[in-house]
Amino acid sequence: MTEEPNTTELTVVVPCYNEAANVAPMVQRLEAALRGIAWEVVFVDDDSPDGTIREVRAIAAHDPRVRGIRRIGRRGLASAVTEGVLSSSAVHVAVIDGDLQHDETILPAMLAAVQGGAEVAVGSRHTEGGEAGSGFSASRAKVSDAGTRMAALLLPTPVGDPMSGFFLMRQSLFEAIAPNLSSRGFKILLDLLLSAKRPLRVAEVPYRFRPRVAGESKLDAAVLLEFLGLLLDKALGGWLPWRFISFAAVGLIGVGVHLAVLGLASRVPGMQFEVAQWMATLVAMTANFLLNNRITYRDSRLKGRRLLPGLLLFYLVCGIGAVANVGIAGLLVRENLAGWGLAGAAGALLTGVWNYAVSSTLVWRSR
Ligand code: GDD
Ligand code: MN
Repeated sequence: MTEEPNTTELTVVVPCYNEAANVAPMVQRLEAALRGIAWEVVFVDDDSPDGTIREVRAIAAHDPRVRGIRRIGRRGLASAVTEGVLSSSAVHVAVIDGDLQHDETILPAMLAAVQGGAEVAVGSRHTEGGEAGSGFSASRAKVSDAGTRMAALLLPTPVGDPMSGFFLMRQSLFEAIAPNLSSRGFKILLDLLLSAKRPLRVAEVPYRFRPRVAGESKLDAAVLLEFLGLLLDKALGGWLPWRFISFAAVGLIGVGVHLAVLGLASRVPGMQFEVAQWMATLVAMTANFLLNNRITYRDSRLKGRRLLPGLLLFYLVCGIGAVANVGIAGLLVRENLAGWGLAGAAGALLTGVWNYAVSSTLVWRSR
């Protein structure tokens, strides 16, 4: 009856967040584009409030080629893609945005490129002729260009569109690179190219980036920071994790906030130093908590009812860190092992590492 082999040739991985209206059209388009290929699709949804996963389940109920992964309490495009690919046992995997901005009709050409010897086929947005006007605002195009140039400095081989979220490769190759991925933020292809042990043979298949019809983009300033983090992570060879760098940078901002509050409080007539110092400490810790929640631990961000317990726990962790700081620094000075400056720096470093380690495991429970 059917000509299809019983092994899956291609798994299409579709990361989605609030794409309910785009699920059914996506399946229809894949069906039309992939005629003659044994394919399946897996939608990886981060528990979208718009009920994206319900749409997926409804279609999957009568179409065995459609699967869905619902991730609870986690966010992130790159990690969603990784989980989708690792759920596949097909020969090849493709990754495509769930908002219909990528052109699925080039998937067979991408598959052919990999079957013909390329290791990664990348769907590249054309650079010539008014492309920017179609799916991209002018300012975003500029940011994207700057990012591409920065990424090019790190890439072993030139790739026209390393920021693309549209690519195809053998599942086994992705699986081999997966343990080395930074899996942060948006740029999974760039992450793959930078994490592979050797330069990968890339084939580029051009297409037109379409404007979004339904839903909205999730790209914001914090995503941009994460992108810089990914580059930094890879440039440093992974020996200092981006999360720690981010935590330390937020800590430095906290010092600035502390001094600013102290400065303001000193102008209040009758203010006691201890009271001002306490106020500054509380404000700085709160600012640090909110910034870390927004940037450093964005993928396991605390929201709603979990925010206040998280903040209180963070106060506690930092409080213990401060006690340890003073204790160690005091010991170093008393035992004549260090002067004030060195002792203070050692205490602060210890506190930073402690705060980071405990925050990562207890407050945000990230991996
Ligand atoms: N599961 C999951 N979790 N999916 C997400 C998340 C997330 O946290 N954030 C975004 N997505 C999904 C969106 O639903 C969409 O299907 C796809 O990932 C791309 O997100 P958009 O928000 O539409 O991104 P964009 O159009 O601004 O970005 C495009 O251009 C970038 C290059 O600048 C995409 O093609 C990116 O892949 C590409 O890197
Ligand atoms: Mn999009």
